[in-house]
Amino acid sequence: MIEVDRLSHSIGGSGILKDVTTSIPAGGITAIIGPNGAGKSTLLNLIARQSPIESGRITVDGLDVSTTDTRQLALKMAYVAQNTGVASRLRVAELVGFGRWPHCHGRPAQADREAVTEALALFSLDGLENRFLDELSGGQKQRAFIAMAHAQATDWLLLDEPLNNLDMFHARKLMRDLDTLARERNRSVVMVVHEINYACAWADHVIGMRDGRVVIEGPVEDVVTEAGMRTLYDLDARVTEIDGHRHVLHHV
Ligand SMILES: Nc1ncnc2c1ncn2[C@@H]1O[C@H](COP(=O)(O)OP(=O)(O)O)[C@@H](O)[C@H]1O
Ligand SMILES: [Mg+2]
Repeated sequence: MIEVDRLSHSIGGSGILKDVTTSIPAGGITAIIGPNGAGKSTLLNLIARQSPIESGRITVDGLDVSTTDTRQLALKMAYVAQNTGVASRLRVAELVGFGRWPHCHGRPAQADREAVTEALALFSLDGLENRFLDELSGGQKQRAFIAMAHAQATDWLLLDEPLNNLDMFHARKLMRDLDTLARERNRSVVMVVHEINYACAWADHVIGMRDGRVVIEGPVEDVVTEAGMRTLYDLDARVTEIDGHRHVLHHV
């Protein structure tokens, strides 16, 4: 379980996260939803120790994010940021290989090479392993970063808007793959997602943020309601069920 206790964060004097207390259950998929600027990326960023915590406490399976040894955290969780700016003269296989760094410290053994091969195959990157990152489409690049995080073989996968740039086929495939990882390999996935119907179809738990606060959380049935959509987005949307799945009709 990830526990966030009274977390506050400000940037340049303005409050970005305001006394956030929440917990993320282990196992399955948790979706973080909410409007632009709600603080979703900031929250994920702090969980992944990309910036120092100013106030409050975060633990991941009992490990305090502020004080735990870097290598131990790198074996516990992998993180893919929303904007993955990185040296683009890097080949796909090299990028995915970075995921093995906490395991092999730059001296890959057979098991590390196998993990890279498996990750490349799982995220449909076969045949692209020798391409440079700047020779990929946005969606291919996105999948390469997720493959790197997968190769890290951690209990937790933290993904900030992993569906960005993915076409319908690859978006659905990614969600199915993440679901399989969660169910069959006991991974816990935390993802920021804007497309609410993906959250409905796949999330076990939903955290809704707005203005630096968690304003609504729970299973899909409790969060994704017409009242919930108004609370989060000021949006009058029709919420219905299709084949037993909650569905938000928000395009018209
Ligand atoms: N580096 C930064 N400098 C100043 N403000 C920032 C910075 N990063 C984020 N913010 C602000 O913090 C708020 C939350 O941002 P973010 O966590 O990225 O939101 P979300 O991911 O929910 O869209 C926004 O209002 C954003 O403008
Ligand atoms: Mg964001």
